[in-house]
Amino acid sequence: MFRRIPGTKDILPTEVSVWQQVEVIARAQFKLYNYREIHTPIVEEEALFNRSLGNSAEIVQKQMFLIRREQDAFALRPEATASVVRAYIENSLDKSEGFIKLFYMGPMFRYERPQKGRLRQFHHVGCEVIGSYEPAVDIEVISLADSLLKALSINGYAIQLNSLGCQRDREVFNADLSSRLREQLPRLCQDCQARFEHNILRILDCKQESCKNIIAGLKINLDHLCGDCSAHFNAVTQGLRDIGITFRINPLLVRGLDYYTRTVFEINHPQLGAQDAIGAGGRYDNLVKQLQGPDTGAMGFAFGVERLLLATTLAPQATAPKVVYVISLGEAAKKESSSLLARLRLAGICCDTDYENKSLKGALRKANDLEAGYVVIIGDDELQKGVVMLKDMATGEQKEVSRDNIVTVLQNPKLITHNS
Ligand code: HAM
Repeated sequence: MFRRIPGTKDILPTEVSVWQQVEVIARAQFKLYNYREIHTPIVEEEALFNRSLGNSAEIVQKQMFLIRREQDAFALRPEATASVVRAYIENSLDKSEGFIKLFYMGPMFRYERPQKGRLRQFHHVGCEVIGSYEPAVDIEVISLADSLLKALSINGYAIQLNSLGCQRDREVFNADLSSRLREQLPRLCQDCQARFEHNILRILDCKQESCKNIIAGLKINLDHLCGDCSAHFNAVTQGLRDIGITFRINPLLVRGLDYYTRTVFEINHPQLGAQDAIGAGGRYDNLVKQLQGPDTGAMGFAFGVERLLLATTLAPQATAPKVVYVISLGEAAKKESSSLLARLRLAGICCDTDYENKSLKGALRKANDLEAGYVVIIGDDELQKGVVMLKDMATGEQKEVSRDNIVTVLQNPKLITHNS
């Protein structure tokens, strides 16, 4: 027997309704903020991600699903920001639209060690705003993330906020961090010793107690930001306070992707255990230019849908219309039943029938399991009289309805008591 790859999931029919609710609610929220949906390919050139996320990013180093064919090197997308920026530039949206607000939903792939909330194929609901450096955009994006969570019936989350500053601030900060950590290097964990060389900022969010203590001793704050970046961050925090969004500034919040500049944020939920980030995002003011687009600012976020589902109180809903179940007894009735099914579907009535040659009793049991609203029974008697037997599954009442009238009657159940 084949089994699914660890870290991937089947979303079974019983679970799909919650997924659909997340999609419907998310689309409504994005629409409220006037964002438009974009779909990009699941597979892209590997180099797009290397260039965007950075060669030292853990995703690029260890987690890419790579496909190599002859000269080509492709990757299943580990995230969508790089793809959306690629699409923005490739389709000249910078020229036709300039400033643009986009959202997306879909599967992402990271070759991680699977655990609760950490999958190899997971789903993002996210957005990207391209074409502005304004702090008002940061405020809108974070407020949208907050209202999306509320709309999804998720409570008890915490928003952490930080500014990584501009490229120059990062260089100065990295150099300072390097000189302050150099003496402590032997006391850092193995991973952080490697990070010291390639990705020093990531040492700040190491989960090892010993590293955490060393970092706490450095008393890191936001003093290293230049005047412009500091003003930008103050405008963002003030704007968020003005619209009543609660957040905590965490100067140790760094993100695993190289493209971030200035504002970064992460949203955590206590119900999720070790993988407690339900979503994250930030500004990436250098990425569009870096991918050969115009020099323009951008900001976005992505939520992990599987993690949203661990935190939500949304319950599966029976949203499907009640099915009309057609039971035919005998070969001649089968023909009549298939033409009735076609007429019902043409009229937009959800219907089904038995394809397993069940007895009347078995077929009725099936109709019951399907929670059918009505059952239509066609046997030799009914065929001869030009009628069908209509059974209301809620009341158990049965009555004959003429074959010509059955579609109209099922379209207007009120007619059932008067019309037969
Ligand atoms: P990210 O933090 O890598 O950011 O992913 C965003 C969210 O995706 C995480 O907070 C988490 O909820 C979910 N996630 C990540 N990896 C996994 C996994 N292996 N299994 C399940 N869920 C996962 C980004 O991807 C950025 N593109 C976000 C962004 C958009 N920044 C700016 N614009």
